[in-house]
Amino acid sequence: MCGIVGYVGSRQVAPVLLDGLSKLEYRGYDSAGIAVYGDGKINVAKARGRLKVLSEMTDEGKSVSGVMGIGHTRWATHGEPSDVNSHPHVSSSGRFAVVHNGIIENYIPLKKRLMNKGYEFVSETDTEIIAQLIEYYYKGDLLEALIKVIERVEGSYALGVLCSDYPDRFVAVRKASPLIVGVGEGENFIASDVTAILKYTRNVYYLEDNEIVVLSKDSVDVYNTDKEIVNKEIFKVDWDVSAAEKGGYEHFMMKEIEEQPKAIRDTVSARIKDGKIVLDDISLDEKYIKGINKIFIVACGSAYHVGVVAKYVIEKMCRIPVEAQIASEFRYCDPIVSCNDLVIVISQSGETADTLAALKEAKARGARVLSIVNVVGSAIANASDDVLYTWAGPEIAVATTKAYSTQLAVVYLLAVYMAEKLGLLTVGEYAEMVREIQELPDKVAEILKSKEKIQYLASQFYNCHSIFFIGRNLDYAVSLEGSLKLKEISYIHSEAYAAGELKHGTISLIEEGTLVVALVTGNNLFDKTVSNIKEVKARGAVVMAVRTDTHLHDDDIADHVITIPSTNEMFLPSLSVIPLQLFGYYVASLKGLDIDKPRNLAKSVTVE
Ligand code: G6P
Repeated sequence: MCGIVGYVGSRQVAPVLLDGLSKLEYRGYDSAGIAVYGDGKINVAKARGRLKVLSEMTDEGKSVSGVMGIGHTRWATHGEPSDVNSHPHVSSSGRFAVVHNGIIENYIPLKKRLMNKGYEFVSETDTEIIAQLIEYYYKGDLLEALIKVIERVEGSYALGVLCSDYPDRFVAVRKASPLIVGVGEGENFIASDVTAILKYTRNVYYLEDNEIVVLSKDSVDVYNTDKEIVNKEIFKVDWDVSAAEKGGYEHFMMKEIEEQPKAIRDTVSARIKDGKIVLDDISLDEKYIKGINKIFIVACGSAYHVGVVAKYVIEKMCRIPVEAQIASEFRYCDPIVSCNDLVIVISQSGETADTLAALKEAKARGARVLSIVNVVGSAIANASDDVLYTWAGPEIAVATTKAYSTQLAVVYLLAVYMAEKLGLLTVGEYAEMVREIQELPDKVAEILKSKEKIQYLASQFYNCHSIFFIGRNLDYAVSLEGSLKLKEISYIHSEAYAAGELKHGTISLIEEGTLVVALVTGNNLFDKTVSNIKEVKARGAVVMAVRTDTHLHDDDIADHVITIPSTNEMFLPSLSVIPLQLFGYYVASLKGLDIDKPRNLAKSVTVE
């Protein structure tokens, strides 16, 4: 949600800002704008709609001269998407321009106070207060004024600020919203994430909360709120530039689906040495693991669905009670969490507001927090006791695929690692499981080879109005993700149901021709779910089943059957989810929808 880019250097800045913003489009937005310093003043161009509108308005940036500026894509929260509510926001005198990602929670009393002092506001946003407050506190020292502002505002923010008194430098600061600093040669950048600046530099600083950065062409100085210099370490991003480009694919989503074997391999291989799982990056030793009372898994969206898989896997392997909870519920349910509990937080972006708040809630109650995160240096990673990174690389499509798959892989590694420490696995079982995990990338690649079959099935069903996904245990957990994948990008109503629960309500919705996608990959519950398939078929449903190659002779269980390779039952979600991702993708593609940027959704949800 909301994207920020800032630049100072020798290039004409507006095209650089537009290019950077285009890399942040995936975050979700409904308007865009830039502010550029030129000829002693700040010039602003902003418009509701896609970046294309702003680009046309400024002749792809060429009509705006200047070498320093800030840009923004806005996902509306306070005030409708409109030209006037778009960022940058400018103070009454025009001296300050501000871009903001986050929410200023106390903007109303602050706004009233300034209005009483004669300040006039033009937008409905919470952000405008920042521009006006800086003006109010400014006595010739921008850093000083910004410190006063951040001491008075409550909420979350990543801010970029231009001041017309400073022709060669601008400032930025963040708290609980993402912002990185890109350090180039003779040019420097700020951005919501590295994909926006990767083309120019791989050297970045990750800012801590309330660290303020002053950027000029040749210098980057980071200060704390006492105006003392903070020495930061440069982090070298090793992502390839192509990682953030479509590379010949029509959509990022398909590219990312295809990248899954590599992403899983990258995530797993660094952590398996000589047949042993080595989790050097965390400090969960045998004594600690043996003392765990309960595990909570907290996340949002697809990451929560990984948590549902993890509940089954960890409980089965480690015999420790596990509760998977949606972060926005957990944070407000007065959770019964204590210092003997481990809270596992899962997040691709590492910046989801509800997940971060849930993490803080858990820590405040004394729990240890282990996070599974894709973005290095993100707020969730920084706030955790231990971090296991998923090495998925940048994920651009709003609907997650490769991040989900790498999160699953980390869950398996962790579960097997803990089970071994708990003495619950024989040497043979352990070795076998490690081998099965290592084989997952090849098995995923094998499923991807038969994409055409799923494409054909999608062509048979893309006009459906409602689709049901059913399964038991792990198959149910994957059904949740399959259903979400389909509905978020194809806009077809869909529900995931535990197969055994169907007859307690949902079966009344099954009518002639209703598509039911049934996951029957688990051996133990195969016959049980087949009975449920028969129940829906008897009521007119058309069934598409996903089963493993151990049940090759069971082709008559459904109207259409998709086969996946076998593996240890605990790891099957990594395989059974692949056809469901492909099905969602092809259905949306046949409907001609904007697959990478589905309506109303944002990749990074930085507001609650
Ligand atoms: C959004 C995205 C989902 C994602 C969820 C959690 O809703 O559209 O794909 O699963 O946020 O995001 P996180 O970055 O915390 O994994």
